[in-house]
Amino acid sequence: MKLSFTLNGVLVRADADPDERAVDLLRDLGALDVKEGCGTGECGACSVLVDGVHKLSCLLLAAQLAGRELTTAAGLGTVAAPHPIQRAFAEHGAVQCGFCTPGMTIAAAALLARNPEPSRLDARRAISGNLCRCTGYVKIVDAVCAAASELSEAPGGETPGAEDQA
Ligand code: FES
Ligand code: FES
Repeated sequence: MKLSFTLNGVLVRADADPDERAVDLLRDLGALDVKEGCGTGECGACSVLVDGVHKLSCLLLAAQLAGRELTTAAGLGTVAAPHPIQRAFAEHGAVQCGFCTPGMTIAAAALLARNPEPSRLDARRAISGNLCRCTGYVKIVDAVCAAASELSEAPGGETPGAEDQA
């Protein structure tokens, strides 16, 4: 089936099998920042924003992307102009192997869009569906809270995302 959707601000047209998963289509389209860890909705590595809502792309069909606006971690910011969340992860030692990081930053973006001043508990809850085998989570929570502080002090520092995954 043919479908089109917006991927990080760019309109893409694709041909997908009826049973093809969104994570596979996105990676085939070059969005290699969308990681597959478990493939069963347990790890959060495949997190994306679909119309601003945190979703697990391993649990979506590619067909469900039709007409939607997709944001992956690469759509939050670039190496030259990182999003405050991405910069905070780097500055707070919240990245080790990096495999979980795209999904973590998407979960953080969804949190900060709906709650610009999260507590540490809010941050822990927001990333509770995202597993990290490296960091122990403390530095990730530090980074999420630091990004929240920066964004709340910077007018116009809005973040895509509105809700947690449904
Ligand atoms: S790969 Fe989707 S939740 Fe683990
Ligand atoms: S940094 Fe390695 S899994 Fe999180």
